[in-house]
Amino acid sequence: MDLFSPFSLRQLTFRNRIAVSPMSQYRARDGFANDWHKVHLGRFAMGGAGLVYAEATAVEADGRRTAGDLGIWSDAHLDNLSAIASFLSQEGAVPGIQLSHAGRKASERRPWHGETPINEEDVTERGEHPWASVAPSAIPYADGWPCPREMSEQDIQRVIASFGEAARRSRDAGFKIIEVYAAHGFLVHQFLSPISNKRTDHWGGNSENRCRFAVEIARAIRANWPETLPLAFRLSATDWLDDGIEIEDAVETARRLKEAGVDMIDCSSGGISGKERPGRMVIEQGFQAPLAEHIRREANISTMAVGFLWDAEYCSDLVASGKADMIALARELLDDPNWPHHAAAKLGLDLEHALWPVESGWWLQKRQRLVRKLDLR
Ligand SMILES: Cc1cc2nc3c(=O)[nH]c(=O)nc-3n(C[C@H](O)[C@H](O)[C@H](O)COP(=O)(O)O)c2cc1C
Repeated sequence: MDLFSPFSLRQLTFRNRIAVSPMSQYRARDGFANDWHKVHLGRFAMGGAGLVYAEATAVEADGRRTAGDLGIWSDAHLDNLSAIASFLSQEGAVPGIQLSHAGRKASERRPWHGETPINEEDVTERGEHPWASVAPSAIPYADGWPCPREMSEQDIQRVIASFGEAARRSRDAGFKIIEVYAAHGFLVHQFLSPISNKRTDHWGGNSENRCRFAVEIARAIRANWPETLPLAFRLSATDWLDDGIEIEDAVETARRLKEAGVDMIDCSSGGISGKERPGRMVIEQGFQAPLAEHIRREANISTMAVGFLWDAEYCSDLVASGKADMIALARELLDDPNWPHHAAAKLGLDLEHALWPVESGWWLQKRQRLVRKLDLR
């Protein structure tokens, strides 16, 4: 088993273990995907990734993080998303979509505008107006953030149903795997974490209650998603804060989600409150991989490792040593969309450019032969 061995979940097979981690582009209007998204994602399929996830895609308009987020809250969004899913499939990658609701992190400025709440500048310069946010409890995300409205039972049921509807649309658009965004301080994570969930009804309190929203979302998706296709969740497997989620809580969540029909946990961490990095969060290559290893072993579920991964041998070893079933890359792929092809060469698995699309591979192989023959490098 290595990075380039195929992997199956339910009846879906990935050509290798390399996933493109969801990467918001903040480039949509009214949630609609456009040519930017198609080219952005398409280059990763051409670059050899086994799974290409479309970015956080809002299940409700108010669930967008920024005004530029993708959306799937209406059937009108489907045509453009279908074109993307179809191209990814055609190039041999599995098309995936990350379904999201931002909760109290909604109505935010883009990263390069400061990741603060939308303000007057956005209104005057881009015509982007702020909107009200909701959350399990009326606790702001951080200092300087507006207070979200505590969700009523009706709100909760509506959002769960919206995830179910989004699953139906994802299926109709041709996506083959859904990942629910339950990490990085977004709505589902806000329910899971005792830091943001102070409810006293059956949606808060003990771990079973805090998991209920995630589990009900999994069930609503499963009701509208083919049994032959996999469902994944991205968890923040620890908040890295003493009063937050710890890895053992995440194991419990993974077990419950598995019972509700979830097949893989994408193991990320952090993000529940404010931008400041918690002292316990020490970053180095693969620093979140132990979370994937622990959950895989303890909850007996497939996992994906993500975060500060770039070295082909290191990534291959994560898979070969059974620490994770798949690995996901984000920034390294922005730097090199052909990373999977280059990794295959480094690992000695594709010395003849056979895995490349023939339109590039044929030329690269021809050049390589000539360069060798003429002893040019
Ligand atoms: C441009 C960009 C956009 C991102 N958008 C999302 C997103 O929509 N959903 C998500 O779960 N994570 C998002 N992330 C986090 C990545 O998926 C990934 O977990 C993180 O960048 C760590 O991986 P890396 O070290 O390979 O970049 C984003 C990261 C980047 C760089």
